[in-house]
Amino acid sequence: MQSVKKLKREYFTELNQNNILLENIKQDLIDSDKIYLEYKNILLVKSDVLDENLFKKEFIDLIVTSPPYNVDIKYNSHKDNLTYDEYLEFSEKWIRNCYKWSKPQARFLLNCPLDKNKGGQQSVGADLTLLAKKIGWKYHSTIIWNEGNISRRTAWGSWLSASAPFVIAPVELIIVFYKESWKKEYGSGKSDISKEEFMEWTNGLWNFNGESKKRIGHPAPFPRELPKRCIKLFSFVDDIIFDPFVGSGTTLIEAANNNRFGIGVEVDEKYCRLAKKRILNEVQETFL
Ligand SMILES: C[S@@+](CC[C@H](N)C(=O)[O-])C[C@H]1O[C@@H](n2cnc3c(N)ncnc32)[C@H](O)[C@@H]1O
Repeated sequence: MQSVKKLKREYFTELNQNNILLENIKQDLIDSDKIYLEYKNILLVKSDVLDENLFKKEFIDLIVTSPPYNVDIKYNSHKDNLTYDEYLEFSEKWIRNCYKWSKPQARFLLNCPLDKNKGGQQSVGADLTLLAKKIGWKYHSTIIWNEGNISRRTAWGSWLSASAPFVIAPVELIIVFYKESWKKEYGSGKSDISKEEFMEWTNGLWNFNGESKKRIGHPAPFPRELPKRCIKLFSFVDDIIFDPFVGSGTTLIEAANNNRFGIGVEVDEKYCRLAKKRILNEVQETFL
């Protein structure tokens, strides 16, 4: 009988070989006709991330994503005005699927609102943290992203009166979770972050501007700086980066441009087309 140690070593060796793993994933997706784009080290999958059978294996090293916020954004097909309970049910399903598809040392970086004021106040960040922990994700820390968009401020509640003022923090969260252990012991072991980047980014208050919806042509894109920092700080070169809500493709572009593999899911045909166009334009000549 093989020793547990040997089995463990073989398992980790398999997990290290991301190019082989990617081929396996690709074959499963080809069989189900779900690949929208395969380009360099990127796979864009047109599908619904709520489908728990979409992927058959654990393959994820790092998730970087921004899900729909349920603030009535006019997406092409996704309905962004669920009741809060329905929203938590939706969140539970996709966070559970991501957990299932993640390798044991995977990390999960969730960009979400701190709270919600429109349609009733809710503690979104805290509620999604609890939900993820209930599913099995372990909490590591929270980064506060100061988008600097105070000028958009219009809702004051009771103006100059204590009767019912509104307090709105112009920030979003990037909540950092991991699956089993925080220390990464497999993968290439290669980091490509500079001393300056490491020192600045490990300060959990990030200051950079949001992205223009008009410029990108999507109702809720995040800026490339966000996935770039997450990827370089929290993953090794050659890791598999996953975004279950691709939108305009920002995470996949940064994964490819930083020598990682990128796999992403987007349910909407129009946004798949947009992501494809951006990927073809913005992914540099690479490397792998
Ligand atoms: C907040 S946006 C992501 C934006 C992305 N970070 C970017 O930079 O463009 C959320 C995306 O999730 C997609 N979406 C919504 N429900 C989905 C589902 N069940 N499966 C896959 N994608 C979904 C929406 O169509 C939308 O494009």
